[in-house]
Amino acid sequence: MFNPRKAEPRDVPTILRLIKELAKYEEMEDRVLLTEKDLLDDGFGEHPCYQCFLAEWQEEQSNEEPKVIGFAMYYFTYDPWIGKVLYLEDFFVVEEFRGKGIGSKILKLLSDLAIETRCSNMHFVVAEGNHSSIEFYKHRGAEDLSKEEGWRLFCFDKDSILKMAAS
Ligand code: ACO
Repeated sequence: MFNPRKAEPRDVPTILRLIKELAKYEEMEDRVLLTEKDLLDDGFGEHPCYQCFLAEWQEEQSNEEPKVIGFAMYYFTYDPWIGKVLYLEDFFVVEEFRGKGIGSKILKLLSDLAIETRCSNMHFVVAEGNHSSIEFYKHRGAEDLSKEEGWRLFCFDKDSILKMAAS
């Protein structure tokens, strides 16, 4: 049986494991520099930088502890044209549980939350080669803004920030 719940501090090792599993799926595992301490400090202090829904799976008629089989990491951002935006950062269901409707249920929870918190949009980035996930989102009405509106994703890395700060 599938049960979604909000992540708690005790879930930090599981969150990091799932972040790494998604990065591995996207063939970028070596890019994950975050530690459990970072996740604990940044997600569960006075001003959390992120929140997570975890998907738990409990075998029917079993006394075993439920196991976490997926997660969605999100936070709120602000867009000067449209206001509050729910930003979906990471979304992952472990392979043997995919295609059972769990991802759709998590998206419904995120949509409920977006409506409750007056967000007008849900934004996210998908790797160019992640075709099945692109289809998953498009099938549920997502627009590809890089194609339709021509937005490009930019980043100042740490070196650039240090240079600008020192200038
Ligand atoms: N694996 C994946 N999808 C399958 C499978 C399967 N074995 N079998 C069928 N599907 C189809 C389903 O029929 C369904 O199709 P639909 O769009 O026509 O409804 C769709 O794929 C999956 O729907 P759900 O079961 O509701 O979603 P799921 O539980 O598989 O979760 C998710 C979706 C999170 C994208 C999951 O497939 C996954 O973890 N993929 C790998 C990681 C990934 O790409 N994550 C998203 C990165 S983008 C980001 O994080 C913002």
